[in-house]
Amino acid sequence: MFDVHPLPMNRPRRNRRTPAIRSMIRENSLSPADFILPLFFHEDAEDTPIASMPGVTRWSLESLVREAGEAHALGIPAIVLFPKIEESLKTPFAEEASNDLGLVPRAIRALKAAHPKLCVITDVALDPYNSDGHDGIVQRNAHGELSILNDETVEVLCQQALCHARAGADIVAPSDMMDGRVAAIREALDGEDFTDVSILCYTAKYASAFYGPFRGALDSAPKDGDKKTYQMDPANAREAVRETLLDEAEGADMLMVKPAGLYLDIIAKVRETTTLPVAAYQVSGEYLMLKSAAADGWLDERAIVLESLLAIKRAGADMILTYYAKQACGWL
Ligand code: PBG
Repeated sequence: MFDVHPLPMNRPRRNRRTPAIRSMIRENSLSPADFILPLFFHEDAEDTPIASMPGVTRWSLESLVREAGEAHALGIPAIVLFPKIEESLKTPFAEEASNDLGLVPRAIRALKAAHPKLCVITDVALDPYNSDGHDGIVQRNAHGELSILNDETVEVLCQQALCHARAGADIVAPSDMMDGRVAAIREALDGEDFTDVSILCYTAKYASAFYGPFRGALDSAPKDGDKKTYQMDPANAREAVRETLLDEAEGADMLMVKPAGLYLDIIAKVRETTTLPVAAYQVSGEYLMLKSAAADGWLDERAIVLESLLAIKRAGADMILTYYAKQACGWL
């Protein structure tokens, strides 16, 4: 039978033969320094388990500082803050978003006081503060149809970013998808001498159903309508390249793709388009899928989580926002 099929010249399996060889030729790897941990918190003194995200907690301010310290001690360089704002503070113009005595600035100050070397990233968007639950300011016409005002929103986002910078944030992360916000925020920051505060911009943020559990965690779901006039259509890839070029030109320091796992092609495209660092966000729905598949022992949690994170890295992400950050450090 070897007359018909001669011995193969190339045997790629030789490079997979032993753990030593495999470790030598491995193209990508994960380390705690790749992770950014998103943290939820609120004004209450008690910690509350988040029903829509098993294993994730909404912390009191005090516990937030402790949790961030634990993450930092594991080698995680950065956290992102997601506040649950009290219903009574939500207004159409989201004034609370730039209150220097608000929950986020107080958290930033407490975090920087306790862990000066921890990189503190803040979310810049109006949905937790806005009585409409949208990332921007809502206008309704005579028929009650709503639209999200772009330029008016950008002004409020600049105030919010400045408020975070004054409190000591290292990086502000606009997640709102308004046009022109990166340049406007850069100018606002520089105008007040915050030239060292970076912008990690959500460049390709899709209108995804996988954000559902997050909105449960913060009670921040839109009261009316959806986010399709500002977040991107999951059908589009070229548009992500356009957003990348614009955000880079506007002065972003780092770009983000979100969600991550189902958008590996987008991560790869953004990676090819820019020389800036690229982050990817393994969102709440991805977390929930992995968590529930592992819950009854159906899949091996450690294995599927590390594989999902490695795939995001392989696609081109330098940094991964993941609710699994602490656990993954333990597994590595
Ligand atoms: C809102 C924001 C969202 C997430 C991060 N920032 C939700 C949304 O856009 O509706 C989602 C994160 C997740 O699902 O884990 N600006």
